[in-house]
Amino acid sequence: MSKINIKNLRNRFPQIAFMDQNGESYLDSASTSLKMDIVINTLTEFYKTSVSNVHRGEHHLSLKATEQYEKARAVTADFIGAQEDEIIFTRNTTEGLNFLAESLSGFLKEGDEILITEMEHHSNFLPWQNLARRFNLKLQIAPVTEQGELDLPAFDKLLNSKTKILALTHISNVTGVVNPLDRIIPLARKTPAFIIVDSAQSVSCLPLNAQKMDCDFLVFSGHKIFAPSGIGALYGKKSLLEKLPPYQKGGGTIFKVTKTQTEWADSPAKFEAGTPFIEGALALAKVLSFLKAEVDFEEILKWEKELVSQAEDSLSDIEGISFIGPKNNRSNILSFVIEGLHSSDLAFILTKQKVALRAGHHCCMPLMQKMNLKSGTVRASFSVYNREEDIKALKTSLLKALSLLY
Ligand code: ALA
Repeated sequence: MSKINIKNLRNRFPQIAFMDQNGESYLDSASTSLKMDIVINTLTEFYKTSVSNVHRGEHHLSLKATEQYEKARAVTADFIGAQEDEIIFTRNTTEGLNFLAESLSGFLKEGDEILITEMEHHSNFLPWQNLARRFNLKLQIAPVTEQGELDLPAFDKLLNSKTKILALTHISNVTGVVNPLDRIIPLARKTPAFIIVDSAQSVSCLPLNAQKMDCDFLVFSGHKIFAPSGIGALYGKKSLLEKLPPYQKGGGTIFKVTKTQTEWADSPAKFEAGTPFIEGALALAKVLSFLKAEVDFEEILKWEKELVSQAEDSLSDIEGISFIGPKNNRSNILSFVIEGLHSSDLAFILTKQKVALRAGHHCCMPLMQKMNLKSGTVRASFSVYNREEDIKALKTSLLKALSLLY
């Protein structure tokens, strides 16, 4: 079946028309993406016709909501090459990672090692730093090279028989560097480590297949892939999920409760305490099944890389500008600094000119320290709905900002 031309996806994002009218440019998709029309329709439809709880009622509305919700789980699983019962709906990537840090703690003993990298955002840093402190574990942090890529030889040296957890990002949210998981995971497989992939940044631009990747767990957020915020997914190998204790306890997680004891339900119910974000899961699944059927993922990254490269060419004659990260490995992110200027001052002036992007440490303080980026970076991040006009707007507003600041 022929796939949609990536450029035609732009008109599937209702905010774009609004932004065009207002002369706005959105270059902050690494933070959160715009939402597709089908997301809005799915939420509206649910509120109009299907509102009900899941797994908690025998009436027809609840049965319908349950059926839709479980179908959403199957679609999400299919999107990342997993089985239906290997998907747990979460709020977001951060919740998935906290879930894992908590649930895997019972498998660790004093002196065990957790390996992360210097390019992790705080969501994949703090849960492990905290876990290491609580249980006297050793937190090992694999360095990045001067350019910001994972130092593979150094990483390899840190792997050993005490490495019990490896948690790393697929794509850096600061530099866009894509980690070569096809090389990293086989190295880590020589250790007993649980392998956790943070796909927050990769889910919207790389085809994911958890089974082929051979990770044990993978997490992502819906809001980075055109779906609502507040819905995310955690993939876990079925055999491992069966062994994990519930993260949060409450309604929906049990098989039987007495005054003194609880028998937990099977996974995934065991891990979804309380009423979930049902309509969020439905909207996420709508997006994922649309993308799977209609879009060639190779084309997504190709287009976004093209925009990054055009943006880099366009901005490169600005005096004092340096781009952060390796030129040949930026995916959809262009991070830069301008000598003598604070990133936040720049972003402030840019936003006054309706160019929305992120500046600062990007929740990656350890990476900023490593790369000696005292005021962080200005980060333009691109998605399927961006155009050359956004680059023009960025350049024009940057020049204006410079004329005001110098
Ligand atoms: N992790 C998100 C970002 O990079 C929030 O902006």
